[in-house]
Amino acid sequence: MNTELIKNIKSIFINKFKTSPILVFSPGRINLIGEHTDYNDGFVFPAAIDKEIHFAAAKNDVNMFRFFAADLNESFELKVDDLAVTKTPWANYLLGVAAQYKKAGYPLKGIDCVFGGDIPLGAGLSSSAAIENGFALVLKEIFKFNISKMDMVKMAQKAEHEYAGVMCGIMDQFASMNGKKDHAIKLDCRSLEYEYVNIDLHDYNILLCNTNVKHELASSEYNTRRKECEIGVQILKKYNNKIIALRDVSLQMLEQYRDEFDPIVFNRCKFVVKENLRVEDAFSALVNNDILSLGVLMYQSHEGLRDDYEVSCKELNLLFDIAKKSDDVIGSRMMGGGFGGCTINIVKKDKVRSFTESVIQKYNKLTGIDPEIYTVKITDGTGLI
Ligand code: GLA
Repeated sequence: MNTELIKNIKSIFINKFKTSPILVFSPGRINLIGEHTDYNDGFVFPAAIDKEIHFAAAKNDVNMFRFFAADLNESFELKVDDLAVTKTPWANYLLGVAAQYKKAGYPLKGIDCVFGGDIPLGAGLSSSAAIENGFALVLKEIFKFNISKMDMVKMAQKAEHEYAGVMCGIMDQFASMNGKKDHAIKLDCRSLEYEYVNIDLHDYNILLCNTNVKHELASSEYNTRRKECEIGVQILKKYNNKIIALRDVSLQMLEQYRDEFDPIVFNRCKFVVKENLRVEDAFSALVNNDILSLGVLMYQSHEGLRDDYEVSCKELNLLFDIAKKSDDVIGSRMMGGGFGGCTINIVKKDKVRSFTESVIQKYNKLTGIDPEIYTVKITDGTGLI
């Protein structure tokens, strides 16, 4: 945990609000494999990472939400009774969570909150889920609400739907809340059953390469992909009414009814069905210490996201190509929703430095943009400090 960050957030809070706060941290996440499968009732394989948002918060007696985003140096105020979507995007993440508590009948009162952290924004590392989860815990702790972790996860996801307009699945909020040090989580997004798997990559490290771009169409295309998957389900449902989501579809079935599909919708569905299978395979590979197979599956995942699901972009593809050509890397793929953000790479430990240098040089030469490279540790989920 980044103790400097916590101290900073706490001291900003005390300076502003002259009272002693509770402290909460909430991590970002990576996803080893299983992209765009969560909202298809499928499988994902994420983990929480040591990039975090920290919160300092306390009740106030003026019945106001008073927030301060330390990284932006911006304040926000709203009467608790006026709770609604506002024109301040960052505040909406917090308000969206408060709105879920309100809807569920929890009594809300005034609260002061300062937050900030080191999760790069728009990098596909789920800074928004970390904020939502963190604030869900802040409210639970301050008002002593009796609510389970899973219900907080669901509220955080709903906050994203209703206050940020992104119809996200449950992966990000789940992983940030339920992270466990040195473990990835294989999650069944239908039953919400999950299993922790120790991540021991032996001679390899997980390295994230941030394109430092986030293309505008990210959220609109995300919602479009959801609809395309739904169209696929509707076609197949005619033949088997047990099909509720692409999770229930086999490759064989998809092929059988191919003629009824628009080719684009077909490709979207094909990707999801294959990606679900890859999560199962990646899980077995990790359990069997077969890191090389995990890497191969990651390459395949990227190729599907690029060619069939079409959520990659030229910057992500460039980072992928650089990684794939390197002898020091055994797996690489774009991560998260797409259209920018990071690739996740499995890189030989003793080559991390030279690989990093070569990525920076090659990526900059071809795009004029400086990428950022991070090694990450796998950490515990959202908690009180
Ligand atoms: C975003 C969403 C997640 C998931 C990924 C793609 O991160 O928030 O729910 O759908 O994209 O796997």
